[in-house]
Amino acid sequence: MGSNIFLTGVTGYIGGTVLDTLVTTHPEYSLTVLLRTVPNEFHERYPDVKIVKGTYDDFETIASAASQNNVVVLTLSKDSGDSDHEGSIKAIIAGLVRRSSKSFLVHLSGTGIIADWQDPTYMGKLNPKVWSDIFDIDAITSLPDSALHRNVDKIIQSAAVAHEDILKTAIVCPPDIYGTGRGLVRTRSVYMPVFLEESVKLGATFYAGNGTNTRSWVHIEDLMIIYLELVEAAVTGGGKAEWGLQGYYFAATHEAAQLDIAKAAGSILHERGILKTEEPRKVTSEQVNTMMKQFDYPGIATYMFASNSRSTADRAKKLFGYEAKASTFWENIGTDLLVGASK
Ligand SMILES: NC(=O)c1ccc[n+]([C@@H]2O[C@H](COP(=O)([O-])OP(=O)(O)OC[C@H]3O[C@@H](n4cnc5c(N)ncnc54)[C@H](OP(=O)(O)O)[C@@H]3O)[C@@H](O)[C@H]2O)c1
Repeated sequence: MGSNIFLTGVTGYIGGTVLDTLVTTHPEYSLTVLLRTVPNEFHERYPDVKIVKGTYDDFETIASAASQNNVVVLTLSKDSGDSDHEGSIKAIIAGLVRRSSKSFLVHLSGTGIIADWQDPTYMGKLNPKVWSDIFDIDAITSLPDSALHRNVDKIIQSAAVAHEDILKTAIVCPPDIYGTGRGLVRTRSVYMPVFLEESVKLGATFYAGNGTNTRSWVHIEDLMIIYLELVEAAVTGGGKAEWGLQGYYFAATHEAAQLDIAKAAGSILHERGILKTEEPRKVTSEQVNTMMKQFDYPGIATYMFASNSRSTADRAKKLFGYEAKASTFWENIGTDLLVGASK
C-alpha cells in the first residue's frame, strides 16, 4: 500500500491538528491538502505538503485529488459549523472509486448524532443511556435522518457497502473536544468560546433543569491517537482497524455534567473579574433557545448546553488499547475559557 494521503479542513481545529500530527509523526508520508485560502506560514511550516486550491463545492477538483491518493482524511465542515457537506463527500467517494486498487477513507462525524437534544424528556437532566460504538452499532448505523451528521454518515456507509472490495471507510465520531489545537489557523474548540460568550451576556454561567445533563469529552491530543492508529492501519492495507459499517469510532475519555462545568467556569470567571458572581444561574429552556443565534441552526444551544451525549470508545479500546493520556477536562477548563476571555 502507498502512503499518499489527501486531507481536507486542515485550517480547522481538528483538521489542523490531524495535519500537524501526521507531518510530525510520519514525515515519510506524502500529504496533499485542500485549501481555499493558503495561510501565511503554511509553506514555512509544512514545506513538503502539496496544496490543491479549492472549496468543498469544487466537485472535480476534489474527486481528482482523491483519485490520486490511497488514503483520504476528511474533516469536513460547513461555514455554519456543522459537518454535513454532502457534495464534497460525494466527490471524495467518486474520486476514490476511480482508483483500480483499494483505498481508505477516514471521515469525521460527531456524537451530536446520538445526542438527545430533540427530545425534551432529558432536557437539563441526566439521561442514563451511554452509547457504545460496539454494542449499539446497529442502532448508530440506522439512526433517523434528523440526527446531526446522519446525512453524511449515511452516504459513507452506503458507499462502504456498495464498494466493499475497493473502498474501506472509517468514521471517527468524537464527543465534545477540549484542549488547544496545533493547526495554523483555528486552535480552539466550539464549546468554551460559546459558553463564555453566553455567560458574559447573562452575567453568570448557567444550566437548565437540574444541570445533570451530561456530555462526553476528549482532549484533542487523545483524539489524535485514534487518527494515527487509523491512518497507520490504512497505509499498511487495513491493519488491525475495522472498516466499513463496523468501522465506527467513538473517542470519549470522560464525562462532565453541565452544572459542574458551570460551577467550575463560574469560579474561574469570577476570580478573573469577568463575572460578578461565581454562582451558576438556572435558565429556562426558552432562554437557552435564544442563545447561539449566530450559528443559524435551530436548537443548537439546547444541544450544546441542555442535552446529553454520552458515549464510550469501546472499539478503539478493544483494537488499539485506547486510553486517555492528555490532561483532563478539569485541568484544561481555565485555559480553554480564558484564551477567549483575554481577546
Ligand atoms: N470541535 C468539537 O468539539 C467537535 C466535536 C465533534 C465533532 N466536530 C465536528 O467536526 C467538524 C470540524 O470541526 P472543527 O472544530 O475542526 O471545525 P473548524 O475549526 O471550523 O474547521 C473547519 C474546516 O473546514 C474548512 N471549510 C469549511 N467550509 C469549507 C468549504 N466550503 N470549502 C473548503 N473548506 C472549508 C475550513 O477552512 P477555512 O479555514 O477556509 O474556513 C476549516 O479548515 C465540525 O463540523 C464539527 O461538527 C467538532
